[in-house]
Amino acid sequence: MEKIRRTKIVDVLQRTDFASEVNVKGWVRTHRSSKVVDFIALNDGSTINNVQVVVDPTKFDTELLKQITTGACISATGKLVESQGQGQNSEIQCTELELLGGCGSDYPMQKKGQTFEYMRQHAHLRLRTNTFGAVMRIRHNMAIAIHQYFHDHGFYYFHTPIITASDAEGAGEMFQVTTKDLNDLKKDESGKVNYNDDFFGKMTSLTVSGQLEGELGATALGQIYTFGPTFRAENSNTPRHLAEFWMIEPEVAFIDLDDLMDLEEDFIKYCVRWALDNCKDDLAFLNKMIDNTLLERLQGVVSENFVRLDYTEGINILEEAVKAGKKFEFPVSWGMDLASEHERFLVEEHFKKPVIMTHYPKGIKAFYMKLDEDGRTVQGTDVLFPQIGEIIGGSVREENYDKLVAQIEERHIPMKDMWWYLDTRRFGTCPHGGFGLGFERLILFVTGMQNIRDVIPFPRTPKSAEF
Ligand code: 4AD
Ligand code: MG
Repeated sequence: MEKIRRTKIVDVLQRTDFASEVNVKGWVRTHRSSKVVDFIALNDGSTINNVQVVVDPTKFDTELLKQITTGACISATGKLVESQGQGQNSEIQCTELELLGGCGSDYPMQKKGQTFEYMRQHAHLRLRTNTFGAVMRIRHNMAIAIHQYFHDHGFYYFHTPIITASDAEGAGEMFQVTTKDLNDLKKDESGKVNYNDDFFGKMTSLTVSGQLEGELGATALGQIYTFGPTFRAENSNTPRHLAEFWMIEPEVAFIDLDDLMDLEEDFIKYCVRWALDNCKDDLAFLNKMIDNTLLERLQGVVSENFVRLDYTEGINILEEAVKAGKKFEFPVSWGMDLASEHERFLVEEHFKKPVIMTHYPKGIKAFYMKLDEDGRTVQGTDVLFPQIGEIIGGSVREENYDKLVAQIEERHIPMKDMWWYLDTRRFGTCPHGGFGLGFERLILFVTGMQNIRDVIPFPRTPKSAEF
């Protein structure tokens, strides 16, 4: 007999050439049986929707039918027919059934309505659920949108190293990389580890940002972006932090603060619009099952202008709110780093739309941010989003060699490690700037999921590196 090629379920559901013979393969979502007819809902990951396989139980081995349980993998061949049920065009009148992989009754994803916390303990199998299927398809689409946006706007995809000897953010939250035997560490007279004989001959870590190397790219190619894994050993066990996350960092020569903010806003709106246009079924599912204000929120972001707010003005608004009776866990005063509660108050309660905050006190921002005229604030820009808080952090960079060195010295950053970075300011320095978007924070926003651990296939967080 001639072999029939497999059709993906997403395509089968679109087809109207009824009476054709089709083959589908996938994992059983449900199997309902009766004396006269069995219905198998089958999913192969190509869409949130299942195809219905209609089986005449008298024509198949009862033992085979018994093994077609939730989670089992099967191949089904049959005639494509117009669906009697609602919500789909077509279903399959089954003529051949094959069990590719049985699934025991101890299958952890068997029951509906398990908590996300439970599913995290089974992250190797949670991908088979409707919610994680939807999230992962959206995640893929967002990655494509990002590459498309930058490619269309003349940015080059620039690969920065994952292993690095510099601490870009100066925050010191790095994972060390070494081939040294930690059980037999030799130290020098002052009690310090000697890295001369380590693999790279110096202390190295996993990168916290590709920005510094990105600046080298931008000051040669004009505009670049990075998109890669990023590591932070900050011990913050929050629903917004991962120890391993993905960051997108565009860097642009000859850009000023206003243009940088325009880029941030245009880029993020493009990504959200892309999701609305290309992930309709998955978003509809998440809107129904996870958060019924999701679609509204996404459309809101696309259609409204982001607020542009000076840090100092923001502090005034927060102080007024406190006077009016608003309670924050952390006190408000000029010079402080905004906590998530402050960011969310501004975005969700005060302005009720995304905010781009600028001109932060220099003391709470990284050494590379361009100093304002007043010498107190810097040209940093954070984009604050409803539900998320900070989704983007960026700035215009200090391009003046002497001012940059002064900032490095003020922060006691070892200068010998920075020589190659400083060279950009010595040889044809130029005004430039860029930002970093946390990929998982974008996915959180677009999917309406509440915990960042649930928008990456295999999350890495303190005390958790399973799978
Ligand atoms: O604000 P951050 O630390 O900025 C930088 O790293 C700059 N070098 C970016 C640049 O200008 N090129 O991080 C940027 C973004 C944050 O706004 C947040 O969305 C995300 O990265 N992020 C995290 N996401 C998940 N888990 C973490 N631990 C994160 N830390 C930062
Ligand atoms: Mg930041």
